[in-house]
Amino acid sequence: MKSLFLSLLLVSILFMNSFSEVRGRKWKGEGTTQNLESIFIGRCYDYIRIVNPAVGEKNCLELWEAFRNAFINKHPCNILPKDYELFIKLAFHTIPANKSLFWENNQLLVKSFTSGARRYMSLSDALFGFVADFLIWCGQANSTGLDYESCPTMEECENNAVDSFWRMASITYAQHSSGVIHVLLNGSAEGGAYPVKGFFADYEIPNLQKDKISKIVIWVVDDIQGPDRDSCGKNTVKILEDRLKALGYDVTCTDNYKPVLFLLCVDYPDDSNCILSSSAPPAQRRPISSDRGGSWNKLMFVSLVGFLFRSASVY
Ligand SMILES: *[C@@H]1O[C@H](CO)[C@@H](O)[C@H](O)[C@H]1NC(C)=O
Ligand SMILES: *[C@@H]1O[C@H](CO)[C@@H](O)[C@H](O)[C@H]1NC(C)=O
Ligand SMILES: *[C@@H]1O[C@H](CO)[C@@H](O)[C@H](O)[C@H]1NC(C)=O
Repeated sequence: MKSLFLSLLLVSILFMNSFSEVRGRKWKGEGTTQNLESIFIGRCYDYIRIVNPAVGEKNCLELWEAFRNAFINKHPCNILPKDYELFIKLAFHTIPANKSLFWENNQLLVKSFTSGARRYMSLSDALFGFVADFLIWCGQANSTGLDYESCPTMEECENNAVDSFWRMASITYAQHSSGVIHVLLNGSAEGGAYPVKGFFADYEIPNLQKDKISKIVIWVVDDIQGPDRDSCGKNTVKILEDRLKALGYDVTCTDNYKPVLFLLCVDYPDDSNCILSSSAPPAQRRPISSDRGGSWNKLMFVSLVGFLFRSASVY
């Protein structure tokens, strides 16, 4: 009897909690990221001082004001890409030729592959994407406050603060990409590697400047031990290749491009796809720890012999 009473009490407390939570939340999506302003301004200084000082001097406080004014004091479903125009204008810098990398469905992989603009410069490695990467934000009508409780999702309204921002940023990034353009797609993604509706399809491809682009290189990389749902010349990748060719681009496509595959191998050192040398059969090379020590010793030995040989030939 006592335990029944306690259970009922517990259930009603849980019910009341979720009820009050629902009351405070206007939207289905997560609310504004805590400390948004500090993160934004800190990232901006990090970018111009450490990550990519080549972009030159920027006023990070002014950038924040321009960004904030795009969505503050407005209904969170009434934000248009052009509301971020001033922010983009202030944050803009050129995207180096041959460095553009477009992607879908593999954000974290892209992050390690571009290596903070050192190797490639995806949108998130340009200042105007870098400051907002992974963040959520929205304001509210008739208030200068941010909504930390909830923000509208894409399903609730298309013209929300975050999606309109990325639309504007994607358009700008595509317009200023030049030379050899790279596209990294996930061959294990559900529904196909190339989403026929998505940022790349809807805002980036239509804004590429044909006369500035020499070639489009597509890489379709499957997850290690993941399904091979899509490949060059098949399914949605074929749709993409055909679309780009019809637009007059020189297009190449490579499945499981090695440099990217090897990044994935960091998490699967024992997988047969992750063995560097093709001369030894996988079974023999299975890296148990003592064997790994063996390879390392062999490597050291070979380096030492090479060194001695070079030294000898100098004298
Ligand atoms: C971009 O790549 C093309 C083709 O590989 C090359 O001819 C050109 O010099 C490269 N441009 C830059 C700025 O690296
Ligand atoms: C590729 O897509 C699958 C399915 O959505 C996902 O589980 C996986 O993490 C993605 N791979 C990468 C490298 O992001
Ligand atoms: C905001 O203020 C305007 C004008 O003062 C008013 O018409 C509108 O109903 C208000 N909106 C909300 C959500 O309170």
